[in-house]
Amino acid sequence: MRTPIIAGNWKMNKTADEALDFVRSIRHQLNSVKNVDSVVCPPFVALPVVSDALKSTKIGVGAQNMHFMEKGAYTGECAPEMLTPYCSYVILGHSERRAYFAETDDLVNKKVKAAITHGLTPIICVGESLEQNEAGLTDSFVGGQVNAAFDGLTDDQASECIIAYEPIWAIGTGKSASPADAGRIIGLTIRGALANKFSEHVAQQVRVQYGGSANPSNIGDYMAHPDIDGALVGGASLKPDFVDLVKTTASVYQV
Ligand code: PGA
Repeated sequence: MRTPIIAGNWKMNKTADEALDFVRSIRHQLNSVKNVDSVVCPPFVALPVVSDALKSTKIGVGAQNMHFMEKGAYTGECAPEMLTPYCSYVILGHSERRAYFAETDDLVNKKVKAAITHGLTPIICVGESLEQNEAGLTDSFVGGQVNAAFDGLTDDQASECIIAYEPIWAIGTGKSASPADAGRIIGLTIRGALANKFSEHVAQQVRVQYGGSANPSNIGDYMAHPDIDGALVGGASLKPDFVDLVKTTASVYQV
């Protein structure tokens, strides 16, 4: 019902030349995988070459961040219209943006609205810290992040968004959340928040990824959970075995 989506978040890795070499090396295999949407999210400066290299494929391209304003005195930022020639997705509110660049729920909401206005599909990241997890605050915190990010959207706009549930303690640590825990948070907390704010229909339309040390060996277990619609992948998206991760996703989905 919901097409799985695997997105590679390259973070601050690969020069434009390296990015081009990499996508040239994987595009043929990646493009041949059916029934899964795959997306690569390189750094800003690699977007033009990567989008050009992928233009005759169905592989999507995404940015990792975006400003919500159209233009202006915002040194170092990229506006939506600067991105739309090269990509159709944008990762918003990643926990690294929230932690190192002080992004708030309110700012993430502004970015979500700006992305939608410009026809970009936001991949909205939410997830709790280890302290919050251990204190039993995951549900209220993650539910609150979802509510804030989706504030002011119509049902149709909400349905088009993608959410990545990424427990902060699982990112880049090799310590992934169990598929049962991730599926419970996604199914009950995240879809529950969407059902309350919009409708059960919207809650069932939105694609929700798991993120946090996802790799080719564990992706099958996440995909076996009916509420998990793919993954936002950091470290494992930088290597050729990203293709294996997407292939495994396709094989589990079809079962
Ligand atoms: P990871 O990163 O797969 O390296 O844990 C995921 C992310 O930050 O999106």
